[in-house]
Amino acid sequence: MEALKATGLSKRYVWSGGSNQALKEVTLSVPTGSILGLIGRNGAGKTTFLRIASTSLLPTDGSMQILGHDVVDDSVAVRERIAVIPQESRPFYWMNPRELIYYFLTMRGHTKADARTRADEALAELGLTEYAGTLVSRLSGGLRRRAMVAMVMASDAEMVFLDEPTTGLDPLARRSVWEAIRKAAKANRTIFLTTHYLDEADALSNRIAILEKGKLLAEGPREAITAKVKHPYRVVVSDGFSRSELERYGEPIWLENRWLLLTGEREAREISKMALERGAKLSLAPVSLEDIFMQIVGKDISVDEAEADEGA
Ligand SMILES: Nc1ncnc2c1ncn2[C@@H]1O[C@H](COP(=O)(O)OP(=O)(O)OP(=O)(O)O)[C@@H](O)[C@H]1O
Ligand SMILES: [Mg+2]
Repeated sequence: MEALKATGLSKRYVWSGGSNQALKEVTLSVPTGSILGLIGRNGAGKTTFLRIASTSLLPTDGSMQILGHDVVDDSVAVRERIAVIPQESRPFYWMNPRELIYYFLTMRGHTKADARTRADEALAELGLTEYAGTLVSRLSGGLRRRAMVAMVMASDAEMVFLDEPTTGLDPLARRSVWEAIRKAAKANRTIFLTTHYLDEADALSNRIAILEKGKLLAEGPREAITAKVKHPYRVVVSDGFSRSELERYGEPIWLENRWLLLTGEREAREISKMALERGAKLSLAPVSLEDIFMQIVGKDISVDEAEADEGA
């Protein structure tokens, strides 16, 4: 079954003196048990989409069901089955992480004993055991964020919405959040997350959705999205090639001291052969999610032409 199904979903923010079309007919399905990574530039509409899905904002047009319940007509049922960390939300500062999770769970109907056990498990999972009794007001920003993640993961919500859950987390903490998310998905819970870390979206998600200016530009498993882009390979060459030469093989981008060439499979092979003949250093790999993002959303890498000429 689909955990999330959006059909022609649109949102226009209207205020006195203006309006803003934040979502434009977004149609998207997320299968149960998957981890969907929603990516897109600032202002693309990610938070708007997530807020509509988690029933804190009404759509202007179209419809959305979460676990079979309509987000507008059946919002109470939706709320009972989801848990959400909104963007930039902070936990209550007068509680400690253990109390925070405990109260969240008892409010959701868990027994006291169950809430206690689940709270301790989630705290341990996110590396927060030593901070379990420290007031939130005395915790660092990253620790507060982790306490929020522990809180929603400790619940039995079938679908969890996380708006930039790892922003500001250290690399190890980030990985503990990833582990918690993976474990939840293994237990057939559905995770819907937004992130600006494309390595994270790549490592974690089994489905990717790309929003740009309110429009869904691509959606599906990572491999399906890779198959769609013009240049599925990335070649990095240190020297021995000129821009005009590389342009015949794909899309060269000057990276301060070397070329990144986005290219096709056959072209990648030819370039590798040439590099070998010329004794130039070369590395070849499938495109990263960031390369894909740049190709789909386009125009973000601003190549300085002067620098580019120097490198040629
Ligand atoms: N309450 C609001 N009133 C009016 N316009 C809004 C409101 N909230 C968001 N917007 C606009 O809607 C668009 C989408 O915003 P949204 O917050 O959904 O983007 P986002 O993809 O989450 O961006 P970010 O990566 O910066 O969090 C933007 O143009 C934004 O300015
Ligand atoms: Mg946002």
